[in-house]
Amino acid sequence: MVKPLDICILAAGKGSRMRSSTPKVLQPLAGKPLLGHLLDTADALQPHQIHVVVGPDDTELQAAYATRDNINWVVQADRLGTGHAVMQAAPFFSGEGPVLIMLGDAPLIRLNTLKKMLATPADLVVLSVQLDDPTGYGRIKRNGKGEVMAIVEDKDADDVTRQIQEINSGVMLSAAGLIKPWLGQLDNQNKQQEYYLTDMIAVAARQHHRVDTVMADDRMEVAGVNDFIQLAELERSYQQSQAAAFMAQGMHIVDPARFDVRGQVSFGKDVRVDINVIFEGEVTLGDGVNIGPNCVIKDSQIGAASIIKANSVIDGAVVSEACSVGPFARLRPGAYLHNEAAVGNFVEVKKSTLGKGSKASHLSYLGDSMIGENVNIGAGTITCNYDGVSKWQTQIGDDVFVGSNTALVAPVSLAEGVTVAAGSTITTDVPADNLAVGRGRQRNIPNWHKPAKTLKED
Ligand code: UD1
Ligand code: CA
Repeated sequence: MVKPLDICILAAGKGSRMRSSTPKVLQPLAGKPLLGHLLDTADALQPHQIHVVVGPDDTELQAAYATRDNINWVVQADRLGTGHAVMQAAPFFSGEGPVLIMLGDAPLIRLNTLKKMLATPADLVVLSVQLDDPTGYGRIKRNGKGEVMAIVEDKDADDVTRQIQEINSGVMLSAAGLIKPWLGQLDNQNKQQEYYLTDMIAVAARQHHRVDTVMADDRMEVAGVNDFIQLAELERSYQQSQAAAFMAQGMHIVDPARFDVRGQVSFGKDVRVDINVIFEGEVTLGDGVNIGPNCVIKDSQIGAASIIKANSVIDGAVVSEACSVGPFARLRPGAYLHNEAAVGNFVEVKKSTLGKGSKASHLSYLGDSMIGENVNIGAGTITCNYDGVSKWQTQIGDDVFVGSNTALVAPVSLAEGVTVAAGSTITTDVPADNLAVGRGRQRNIPNWHKPAKTLKED
């Protein structure tokens, strides 16, 4: 029988190099906290429990994952090093079985790599990687036979050791029954006066335990985030590999270096995405969708053959098929465009439905409204949906024509076929096929004398 797996994630470090009030492991990578990436990968291994070591003030962290019930939060009162951190978690390990240790600030570790480690028959498995520039990392020290003897931290390494390019990723696998006694033999006699987890390797090797390494193929997989420069590097690398995967599935991305997905995107055939587009949350793009530059699309569905023009911001909206949105349009939560609807520049739509073929082409606010089919909303039309206390609905029937610069004071309804004269303020319901004129009549005053300039006296 396979013994239950415990996972231990170290996340109590202060993250002082970020100079941020947000805990380091809550900093977002592709829209998800660093810790969230690790937890999702950890979940896929179906562990018995995930122990997360946090600092005493990290209540924000626990609150962020309050709904998860497989996390055992372990508080490390004094941050005395990675070895000390594991010592705090060790009493909670479920038995003598396997324990996988990961660092909270190295989020891109792959499931396959972890599986490779779990399949390695050794007493202690360390995930290592070969780096051109190993500065800052612990070095893997081997003897003449190539056996791992120790990990030496950068700060404690001599010049010869510093030349070693194989580094410790921080991910380790061993058994609780071995880790616990090894931890008891650590001390803090080093440059940082910390209990290093990495010193466990020398202890194990001295006791002739079999220490082995698994090499990660990709250095980004083990890259740690200590400051915003490294976070930005990791973000770009993550986004580029996401873009590459999408392109391989047939998405036409104009420039993969200017493409960001902070969530999940599913898409059909012949989707084209111009530069600087950001996707957030859950986004679905139908066949032939075309997205112009500088758009932000969050938690929305864009139907087949719809076009989203430059600089549009879409959040919580449904855009059906063959619609046109933008340039400079804003669809807010609850915006629902039926097929062939069009929303043009400087139009804001909130909690409103536009029926098939209806158009609001310029400069409008449509909020809390139900708009039928083939309706034309003239430039400058505003649904006055808010009286300072409550929000009210506007109903507009099929084939209505709303002239420019109209204020529709809700609650109000325009029945089918209504025409509203430009510049109207509509405060009462309009019956079907009526023309509504709600404005002062124009007067022309002949022979008007323009005011003349008078000389100012000083
Ligand atoms: C560590 C490793 C180093 C490795 C590198 C990989 C040690 C001693 N060094 O160095 O060999 O190459 O990671 O990125 O293990 N933490 C705690 N409690 C503590 C100290 C740290 O929970 O008392 C957590 C931090 O939150 C962090 C992780 O452990 O997530 C690593 O700590 P950090 O200080 O970043 O270690 P590195 O110097 O990067
Ligand atoms: Ca680190």
